[in-house]
Amino acid sequence: MRGNCWDRAASPYFDLWVPRLIPYHEDLIRRAVPRPGERVLVTAAGPGAELLPISRALEGTGMLAATDSSPTMIEHARAEAQKAGIAMPIDFRVADAADTLGGTWDLIVSAFGLWQLEDRDEVLRSWSEALGEDGRIAVLEWGPPEPDGPFQLAELALVHTAPELGGARRGWALASRESMGELLASSGLRLVRHAVIRNTMSFGSAEGFLQALCNGGAFVHLVEGLGRERLGAMAEAFYARLDPPSARTPLSFAPAASIAIAQKSPA
Ligand SMILES: C[S@@+](CC[C@H](N)C(=O)[O-])C[C@H]1O[C@@H](n2cnc3c(N)ncnc32)[C@H](O)[C@@H]1O
Repeated sequence: MRGNCWDRAASPYFDLWVPRLIPYHEDLIRRAVPRPGERVLVTAAGPGAELLPISRALEGTGMLAATDSSPTMIEHARAEAQKAGIAMPIDFRVADAADTLGGTWDLIVSAFGLWQLEDRDEVLRSWSEALGEDGRIAVLEWGPPEPDGPFQLAELALVHTAPELGGARRGWALASRESMGELLASSGLRLVRHAVIRNTMSFGSAEGFLQALCNGGAFVHLVEGLGRERLGAMAEAFYARLDPPSARTPLSFAPAASIAIAQKSPA
């Protein structure tokens, strides 16, 4: 589990990524359609940006729980829910993604959580078992990958500098309809809806983007042991791939993310 790593990353994740992710969360929740009175579990909730659109859709009724393995993330989520004035009780728990809190759920949500889990099959099976009748699972993941996108260019630079990491981010394959369908099927679930969405995100400079990735994003656990020299080499390798090739190049792009809505397969 990378709980400690995400504990350290919680503040930069919240400051640097969450504002850019909110349009993706809103797209996910629009497609997951939480209905008033439903019981909703948000897994790997991080600082909980998904909770506001869900609570709005629930109109303050039903049940809402949020889990994450990082205590610091859960503290952020609790504080943010209070600040946002969410008008329904939320059960915040430090728990693994596979833990469904002994409940039966109408909707289980995972935004940018599944990619990092080693035991995805097991996690999905536990979600499947915890679904009520007509219950559904809503998953949001980055991808399909775009060869010239900043995420991929940064990943190429990382692998170029630290080949031992052997492919930084293993979750990209999750984004395709076929692989997501297969993963779900192996856990007793069927894909009922799949959509690719894009929202624009901007960074004032390539350097700011890379710092956000390394301090609060998907590279957090990868760059920990790299050391200053190799971090510098990775940054140079990244900037060299940009047009113009500079740390100061501003980035504005619309990375693809995939939404999968799944239900239990008929017995
Ligand atoms: C990229 S963040 C996503 C947070 C949030 N869902 C969002 O979309 O903003 C990934 C989160 O997964 C959590 N996480 C990592 N491994 C986990 C595990 N095994 N069980 C539960 N949460 C986990 C991390 O603590 C982190 O908060």
